[in-house]
Amino acid sequence: MNVVQVFHLSKVYKPSVVALEDVNFELPPGNFVYLTGPSGSGKTTLLKLLFGAEKPTQGQVLIEGQNVSRLKGRRLALLRRQVGFIFQDFKLLPHQTIYGNVSFVLQVLGTSPQEIRQKVENALGRVGLADKAKRYPYQLSGGEQQRLAIARAIVREPRVILADEPTGNLDPEISEEVVRYLEEARASGTIVLFATHNRYLMGRFPHPTITLQAGKIIQNSFIQ
Ligand SMILES: Nc1ncnc2c1ncn2[C@@H]1O[C@H](COP(=O)(O)OP(=O)(O)OP(=O)(O)O)[C@@H](O)[C@H]1O
Ligand SMILES: [Mg+2]
Repeated sequence: MNVVQVFHLSKVYKPSVVALEDVNFELPPGNFVYLTGPSGSGKTTLLKLLFGAEKPTQGQVLIEGQNVSRLKGRRLALLRRQVGFIFQDFKLLPHQTIYGNVSFVLQVLGTSPQEIRQKVENALGRVGLADKAKRYPYQLSGGEQQRLAIARAIVREPRVILADEPTGNLDPEISEEVVRYLEEARASGTIVLFATHNRYLMGRFPHPTITLQAGKIIQNSFIQ
């Protein structure tokens, strides 16, 4: 079964902004796909619908066969455990240390303290922040904050990572690192859907591409 299934998905923001129109695609595990298209073409909206942060006007999103838009409360929370979201603005917890920002996710899931320590150290190691675990987010550079956001997304080994322009404000080298971390996650079976405008990165790290324009898929090079 495909982990991500999107059927006839449309989103109209009130009163009349058509952000997505009849979008259809499916992704099996272990794929890295770019989501691209001009500003305002609907990329963020699509990721929000996949995360259950917005409701579709029509159509449906299934993750692991579950209809995201019908889930509420506890069942939506359970589904979100399988989906990591890297936001443009990181959404870090300012009063928690680096370690705390990453372990928080696992505490919420009820992971044992021993397992938490091992997983957090592993995730921070993978993004090169192991030696900064005791710092606070404001003591990190922009690129380090971005890597922290990635550590937080990968620590729970989600089935799907949704990344919204995660390299937006980063220098080219760190942007490349970000892509490499996400490629590692893909290699262990995670689906990565990476929204970006960055032609350079897309050329340097080629992956199948879904292109949106004015809310419609105009090109999908992902072949099943
Ligand atoms: N909450 C909202 N209310 C009304 N309109 C919205 C809302 N969010 C987005 N839109 C509109 O929906 C359309 C798609 O926006 P979206 O943010 O999905 O585009 P995007 O492809 O992510 O653009 P960018 O590359 O600039 O991030 C745009 O016309 C935008 O103005
Ligand atoms: Mg966007």
